[in-house]
Amino acid sequence: MRRKLVAGNWKMNGNLAANSALLNELVAAVGHGAPCDIAVCVPAPYLAQCQQQLVNSAVAWGGQDLSSHGAGAYTGEVSATMLADFGSQYAVVGHSERRAMHGESNVLVAQKTVCALRAGLIPIICVGETLAEREAGQTTDVVGDQLKAVLDLLEPADLTRIVVAYEPVWAIGTGKTATPAMAQEVHATLRALLAAHDPVAAAGTRIVYGGSMKPDNARELMAMPDIDGGLIGGAALKSVDFLAIIAASSAASNAASSAQ
Ligand code: PGA
Repeated sequence: MRRKLVAGNWKMNGNLAANSALLNELVAAVGHGAPCDIAVCVPAPYLAQCQQQLVNSAVAWGGQDLSSHGAGAYTGEVSATMLADFGSQYAVVGHSERRAMHGESNVLVAQKTVCALRAGLIPIICVGETLAEREAGQTTDVVGDQLKAVLDLLEPADLTRIVVAYEPVWAIGTGKTATPAMAQEVHATLRALLAAHDPVAAAGTRIVYGGSMKPDNARELMAMPDIDGGLIGGAALKSVDFLAIIAASSAASNAASSAQ
């Protein structure tokens, strides 16, 4: 069974004082042995704070983007090795906000994925369709093209080190969530694409759901066979909500293992 991942995407939120309180609350509640993998993906200036507060805890941390270049004259960019320098284990790549607001193409997202892997980071690769694309029946094509661009640059062995996040754009920050069945359908499609690349490795690739995941819908979503956790935006900013989603994830895992 794949171990679930609950990752927070703080987006451009936070300040030293608020982060400190949130991280302390997470560490106090989670302790050292967590029922799933847990991470917070934070604005780059706060990586050092995460390293300080989360070291030796069960909560990992990471960035929300990275450059497709190694080093050099790229003002404003942050490289994969810089993220790793601060102990990051994860990096979100290709979030829909970056695709939409910063014009990130499927190929650029694929290049960033490779940079993350080479630096030893676990890329959380976001894919997802807009409402117009869903209504036009293009969901499979859109997420398929987004994932295929990445797979074209990967070795089969990389599949066990990546995380794919299905984040329907229309569900992000809107309070509208894909139903568990809707999400499962897309996750199964993504799993099939991964399996076409390498059937054995694909069985171990984690595919998480993101888009208005909250304490009250997390368990149902994570109970689906191909939903291996969540990428959480708004609800990751409140420890009580984030912790409730972590608890929902372990409840979903326990239910699945007792059904086996
Ligand atoms: P949300 O964001 O949970 O606030 O919808 C998810 C995301 O954008 O990763």
